[in-house]
Amino acid sequence: MSKLLGPLTIKGLELPNKVVMAPMCMYCAGEEGLVTDWHLAHYAARAIGGVGLIIQEATAVEKRGRLSPNDLGIWDDDQIKGLKKLVDLVHEFGSKAGIQLGHGGRKARPGKGEIIGPSSIAFSEDHQVPREMEEKEIKEVVNAFKKAAERACAAGYDIIELHGAHGYLIHQFLSPYSNQRQDDYGGSLDNLLRFPLEIIQEVKKILPSDKLLMLRISAVEYIQQGYSFNDMVKAAKIFAEVGIDILDVSTGGAGPSAPRTWPGFQVPYAQKIREELNVPVIACGLITDPGMAEELVSNNRTDLVALGRALLRDPNWVLNAARELGIPGKIPWSYARAYPEDVR
Ligand SMILES: Cc1cc2nc3c(=O)[nH]c(=O)nc-3n(C[C@H](O)[C@H](O)[C@H](O)COP(=O)(O)O)c2cc1C
Repeated sequence: MSKLLGPLTIKGLELPNKVVMAPMCMYCAGEEGLVTDWHLAHYAARAIGGVGLIIQEATAVEKRGRLSPNDLGIWDDDQIKGLKKLVDLVHEFGSKAGIQLGHGGRKARPGKGEIIGPSSIAFSEDHQVPREMEEKEIKEVVNAFKKAAERACAAGYDIIELHGAHGYLIHQFLSPYSNQRQDDYGGSLDNLLRFPLEIIQEVKKILPSDKLLMLRISAVEYIQQGYSFNDMVKAAKIFAEVGIDILDVSTGGAGPSAPRTWPGFQVPYAQKIREELNVPVIACGLITDPGMAEELVSNNRTDLVALGRALLRDPNWVLNAARELGIPGKIPWSYARAYPEDVR
């Protein structure tokens, strides 16, 4: 028996197994942010390869929020058709489909035009200085997330993930390091939470009951002037109370410094949040070994395990994990002759 490769039902949504593809930008959507053949082949291959939940790369809710000029977009109704084709393919091959809705804020590199942020502080010397958002613009961006979520529902995604990690716009508002506003959106924890909470509440209003809402967070910032893990646990409790169904626990990205890493380095944060909140979590970060992934879910350190680069290297990671763990019945018929009979 494998707990990793067995199903999991969260609020009525049945995932075929507990392996998640972490959101990863492909930087190939072109100026209009449209789904290309690359995206269709890339995500379909991971669905055929047995991933339980595919979270599509950061997809921009506003053109000026793209992390590169070639990011996927969901700021226009014309983008729904390609996204729907992608979701249909992922479903056809047996995976559930999530989409990460994102806005780069001060870390955006849209190619041309101004960028915006909570405060007028550049992320680094290589980045544009963002213009501080007026309150009216904050409401407009909240609405852009809501409209994007509506489009994502029209395209058929099972899960919507808000990108609240890695120093992008939602995280920028949450962090006292990048948010130095003097108004209702800066200062106290209540104020730092205001922008993310407004987005969650607006998206919740339009989300059908059979779709889940997930938030990716940076549990720690690795920055002296940033928030602490305890602050984030408090924030995460509030996010869960207002309707976040799953927390996708990552770290860092608010500033230029990067931490030392090792296999599973972010797991303790996911585990602690899971224990404190009783909300399903995803652990991610240098998880490449099937035995380790199995241990993490079997010992209730996490509900789901996300893989990033390991799935870029090997779209069939799950099938090979099934072979390594000795679990039969996971290999698609067309690939059967590539595997020993006892694990087909
Ligand atoms: C090519 C690439 C693109 C990425 N793009 C995103 C993204 O769009 N959104 C996001 O939240 N994280 C992004 N990440 C981070 C991954 O989701 C993941 O958290 C990170 O790679 C650590 O997991 P891993 O060690 O299994 O690769 C990206 C990582 C890579 C390698």
